[in-house]
Amino acid sequence: MKAIVVYFSLEGHTQYIAEEIAKNLKADTLSLKTAKAYPKGKLARMFWCGKSAVFGEKPKLAPYEFDASKYDVVILGTPIWAGSHAAPISTFLEKNNIGGHKVAIYACSASGDAQKCFEQLKNKFEEVIATVSLINPNKQTYAEDISKVEAFCKAIQERI
Ligand SMILES: Cc1cc2nc3c(=O)[nH]c(=O)nc-3n(C[C@H](O)[C@H](O)[C@H](O)COP(=O)(O)O)c2cc1C
Repeated sequence: MKAIVVYFSLEGHTQYIAEEIAKNLKADTLSLKTAKAYPKGKLARMFWCGKSAVFGEKPKLAPYEFDASKYDVVILGTPIWAGSHAAPISTFLEKNNIGGHKVAIYACSASGDAQKCFEQLKNKFEEVIATVSLINPNKQTYAEDISKVEAFCKAIQERI
């Protein structure tokens, strides 16, 4: 089974989990970056990133290489922004047709509530084989998250 984790991470939590999933599944990773960086300040980020998610913006991405035909499964990773997925994920999905692919999705948030995000994304794909929601995961919290990540990876392996 060949998998790729395609993710956007503003503050590192989603990236941390991407790396753990990649280790577990021997998967490739693709870290999406916006062509123009989001602002650094907390309030400015809340405003600009929140607005981009609410209005379904598709910010230009920095160049990347992605060939869906190389993979059995595409794992999407996103932080929750205003209840939804991060705007750069919208850009990626618009540019890359992975609708017919097997897809798994994980989301990182402050609250653990990723329901709306999962529902929105599930409509875009033929088959979502696994989802998992994590609360601001990082090295310190990983002891609590590891069982969730392992179950997510196992579900993916079983459904390929
Ligand atoms: C603009 C913005 C909006 C956010 N909205 C939510 C939200 O609606 N619900 C929530 O639980 N967390 C929300 N968060 C918190 C992030 O989802 C959370 O901290 C996540 O782990 C960040 O992942 P990252 O470090 O990979 O960027 C928001 C963060 C930002 C920057």
